[in-house]
Amino acid sequence: EKGGYDYFMLKEIAEQPKAVADTLLGHFQDGRIVLDEQRISDQDLRDIDKVFIVACGSAYHSGMVAKYAIEHWTRLPCEVEIASEFRYRDPVLDRSTLVVAISQSGETADTLEAVRHAKAQKARVLAVCNTNGSQIPREADAVLYTHAGPEIGVASTKAYLAQITANYLVGLALAQARGTKYPDEVAAEFRQLERMPEDIQRVVDSLDPVREIARELADSKSVLFLGRHVGYPTALEGALKLKELAYMHAEGFPAGELKHGPIALIEDGLPVFIVMPPVEGRGVLHSKLVSNIQEIRARGARTIVIAEEGDEVVRPLSDYFIPIPASTTLLQPLLATIPYQAFAAEVAAARGYDVDKPRNLAKSVTVE
Ligand code: F6R
Repeated sequence: EKGGYDYFMLKEIAEQPKAVADTLLGHFQDGRIVLDEQRISDQDLRDIDKVFIVACGSAYHSGMVAKYAIEHWTRLPCEVEIASEFRYRDPVLDRSTLVVAISQSGETADTLEAVRHAKAQKARVLAVCNTNGSQIPREADAVLYTHAGPEIGVASTKAYLAQITANYLVGLALAQARGTKYPDEVAAEFRQLERMPEDIQRVVDSLDPVREIARELADSKSVLFLGRHVGYPTALEGALKLKELAYMHAEGFPAGELKHGPIALIEDGLPVFIVMPPVEGRGVLHSKLVSNIQEIRARGARTIVIAEEGDEVVRPLSDYFIPIPASTTLLQPLLATIPYQAFAAEVAAARGYDVDKPRNLAKSVTVE
């Protein structure tokens, strides 16, 4: 049943090209993005003036990634919030607010209550969910299903990439409804997404060096993850995977925050992961991260850098260099997250832990 893999998680990491491809399937018809269920009229969709994304854990990180795309494509303000925070405060919501609830299981108690809280204030709710017939999509006004298939490993992998993919479809559907993107631009974005599974496969096929690094660093006390832009939520996801699977202290930071505190943590030999933005068209972000790497190296950090295979600027600044295929900035998390998944799984295995069933965690958190 594990298909020759030692753990379901490894099988599920390998299934990611298919999870992304299947999530896209059938959602571009006659030149338009289509959702699975839409009980919001086109007019109401056009009238949306604000987006809230609510979710927990990895699903929340997928929402953070989506914010960059949604604001860029739709020009709508988009906030991302942890569901358990959202439901216990008094967010400003009305009938022109779209609340996007992201959940693999569709049963997460806090996310479900956030949906109810939103509906009680007349906000429209769109669910991104991996489980047919679960409660969150049942209560939503619109649904887009991720097609990652059943995820057995407690740590989310293929569902996470599928969530990012589905969130981007939501962003494109909104841009299409609002006319902030021309039909041919929406089509071009969709085609780019369609090409991703091939590159995802290339990353999946080249994880052995990552596993080797994991075995070398398996005794670390603490690991930091840095990134900017979509590389920031990717850093948070990398840290979460390592905490939950390897029980290792890990934190993700926006690289620009280093000087405001976290740089004090840097000491000799501390492993620090960095995702480099694509070189192309991202001159500023790229060079900012180069400076950040120089700063932490000067203080003794060991740098593990995930960057485009052709990034010769950063290679000499990397103690370990993990190449990924070139992509646009927005699509990069679909590639850059994968080495973090493999790293966490391998550290956990090296430390003798159950990769599929980390202690204290449940696959579906139906109580708060
Ligand atoms: C992390 C992980 C959890 C879930 C979170 C939300 O690897 O799996 O953080 O992402 O519990 O679960 P869903 O998506 O089912 O609402």
